This record gives sequence, C-alpha cells and structure tokens, in this order.
Amino acid sequence: MQVSIRSYVQRDAADLADVFFRSVRQVAVSDYTAAQAAAWAPQRATPDTMHETASDGRATLVAADEHDRAVAYIDLEPDGHIDHLFCAPEAAGRGIASQLYEAIEALARKQGISRLYTEASELARRLFERKGFVVLERQSKVLRGVRIHNYRMAKDLPDLH
Ligand SMILES: CC(C)(COP(=O)(O)OP(=O)(O)OC[C@H]1O[C@@H](n2cnc3c(N)ncnc32)[C@H](O)[C@@H]1OP(=O)(O)O)[C@@H](O)C(=O)NCCC(=O)NCCS
Repeated sequence: MQVSIRSYVQRDAADLADVFFRSVRQVAVSDYTAAQAAAWAPQRATPDTMHETASDGRATLVAADEHDRAVAYIDLEPDGHIDHLFCAPEAAGRGIASQLYEAIEALARKQGISRLYTEASELARRLFERKGFVVLERQSKVLRGVRIHNYRMAKDLPDLH
C-alpha cells in the first residue's frame, strides 16, 4: 500500500472515525482483550465529533492511500501532547505509523516544541520506544467498568540551533 502523508481536512472526518474504531477493535486486540477494546471504543464516533476534535487547535496528519482515503492518523496538541495514533487493520505493520510519527516530530520541532509526551497503548509503546521515548509510568485505569493499562511516555526534543 502506497500512502502519502498530508494534513487532515474536514472530508477525512468519517474515515478517521472508522480508522479509530477498527484500529482499537481489530488491531489493539493483539495486546488487549475484546472487552478492553469494546470499553476503549464502544462505537464509531460521528464525523462531526471527529471533526470537532481535529479542529480544537491540534495538528492532525493523515496517511492517505492511493484513493486519498485516510488509513492512519496522528495528532499533536500545542503543548507537545500526542493524543491519537491509529492505523486501520489493512494498513498496520507496514511502517505507516512510523512515517506519521516522523512527520509529526518534524512539525513539533518546527513549532519549537521541546518535549513530546503521550499515553501509549501496549502496541504504541513499542513504536514510541523505537523513536526515543522513555516510559515514565505504567498507568492502569477503569474505563466503562473495564480495567485497562497504558504507559505515560515522553521524549525531549533538544533545540538543535
Ligand atoms: C500503534 C499503531 C498505530 C502502530 O501502527 P503501524 O503502522 O502498524 O506501526 P508500524 O508499522 O510503524 O509498526 C508496527 C509493527 O510493524 C513492524 N513494521 C514496521 N515497518 C514494517 C515494514 N516495512 N514491514 C514489516 N513490518 C514492519 C514494526 O516492527 C512493528 O512491530 P511491533 O509490533 O514490534 O511494534 C497500530 O498498532 C494501531 O493502530 N494500534 C491499535 C490502536 C493503538 O494502540 N493506538 C495507540 C493508542 S496510544
């Protein structure tokens, strides 16, 4: 699958909602139970909800396939927080999230952000570790009645100038 990385536009909203839902329900189940995945993504978000999130001041980059449909996405909040990194099942395991990460780190550096941080799933932890993040803490919380864990991680971006 050939993808190109570009900025989110409003017509991506429905695709992003679909990517998020299928990513949690079908990809994350390698490391989480079906009950945990169902608590994490109880239903598909509406395109409006997705667009509202993507328009709240964060930057969102998508990986678009040959039909210009978003198959994965990442975001970056102004304070360096990476909130979302999700990949559709058919696009997973091909280095696409890695490409998205490299693009968002470049954007963060351009914006003068000095530290990136995230709460990574078990799957995303492996990727973020490869990118130089360190685990600060393993966190466990109860989400819709189901216990689920993730990792608080961070990476300093030293000023190269
Ligand atoms: C985390 C996530 C976004 C990573 O997406 P991805 O595009 O599959 O990531 P990559 O392809 O860059 O790396 C995934 C794996 O494929 C392997 N891989 C990377 N490039 C590859 C390539 N060209 N060929 C074959 N395998 C490759 C990597 O080694 C990696 O292995 P790992 O399981 O040990 O980490 C994806 O697993 C996902 O959507 N997970 C479910 C939702 C989730 O957990 N999101 C994070 C919330 S914090």
